[in-house]
Amino acid sequence: MKAHAVKLTDKVYWVGAIDWSLKEFHGYDTQGTTYNAYLILADKITLIDTVKAEFKDELLARISSVIEPEKIDYIVSNHAEMDHSGSLPEMIQRIMPEKVFASKEGVKALIEHFELPVEVNEVSAGDELSLGNLNLSFIETRMIHWPDSMFTYLKEEGVLFSQDAFGMHLASTERFDDQIKPGKIEYEAAKYYANIINPYSNLVAKLMDKLPGLNLDIKLIAPDHGPVWRSHIEDAFKWYRQWSKPERTKKALVVYETMWHSTEKMASAIAEGLIEGGAIPKIMPLDTFHSSDIVTELLDAGALVLGCPTFNSALLPPVAAFLEYARGLKFRHMMGASFGSYGWSPKSVKLMNEAFENMRIELAHEGMQTKYVPNDEAMQECFDMGLAIAKKLTNTTQEG
Ligand code: FEO
Repeated sequence: MKAHAVKLTDKVYWVGAIDWSLKEFHGYDTQGTTYNAYLILADKITLIDTVKAEFKDELLARISSVIEPEKIDYIVSNHAEMDHSGSLPEMIQRIMPEKVFASKEGVKALIEHFELPVEVNEVSAGDELSLGNLNLSFIETRMIHWPDSMFTYLKEEGVLFSQDAFGMHLASTERFDDQIKPGKIEYEAAKYYANIINPYSNLVAKLMDKLPGLNLDIKLIAPDHGPVWRSHIEDAFKWYRQWSKPERTKKALVVYETMWHSTEKMASAIAEGLIEGGAIPKIMPLDTFHSSDIVTELLDAGALVLGCPTFNSALLPPVAAFLEYARGLKFRHMMGASFGSYGWSPKSVKLMNEAFENMRIELAHEGMQTKYVPNDEAMQECFDMGLAIAKKLTNTTQEG
């Protein structure tokens, strides 16, 4: 296979793989992705992370464009999830490095995933590892994204290897943030945060508070997915601070599924009420928008207004699936409200309200249900519901 490394600094090369066809990552609708690995040409030549197993040849080809892979002395595993460790066993077998390093939990996770022919050495937060002429240090980032996750910092070159954090699932031939349109970078970083990192926001907030005190002179953030940050590092930090401490805005997401357009009509009346009341509705029907894009919009939303008709005394499956997906991602800052039509068994609003309660989301309204097709009176009640939610949002939120 023919593939080249990309030089990032005098001593650091990107040697990862581009997965052009990945469309789904555990419920996340992706536009391909990259599995980033990095080669440090120090006295002790070091590889940071590897790639998904089936991309091992691409990793080897990129390394081989710079050095013979067998010359690698050390491998550092920042994250044991298999998109970064899948080819580690074969790489170790081939290279037989002098040492392999991971966090304490990383050592355990690697042993629990693979039979490795070498011992994995534990490193802890604050430890320094001499590569001869260059030095690595390690930063604890437990649960961002797995218990084993850690950052590695290359002091002399100012490179922060951040594994999943600051990543994005975006396949591209460009390797740097400033080679991609700023709006695209922000959206894809937000989408990655919402779908992967959000459940651990309390830990992200602590990390973002701690980082300045470490006095790192960061010139590059090199994550395990997507482009390397060199021009928008401050933006990336600002966004992670914002997303990890979300505030309610006037934005109200109206998300729904409909059977015979009754719930859809209710959604449009609620949206009119939201506008009239000064909120900013964003309408996202579930049959048009992917759940992973909807949850991205939740990052800065003040309310989730969810609509579903009653279907066999239950919720329509796409709404139930959306609620389950959102529940796992632990969005709690926004308020919730529900609405929907029914035929003979009004259940959906009760079920959605219970789901909000389970998700620890405050209700902005008791909910609105209507039999079969909403008449003028029901449409007025939907409008009033939108108005009432908007009033709560405008009383309690930041500008959205
Ligand atoms: Fe990209 Fe948590 O793995």
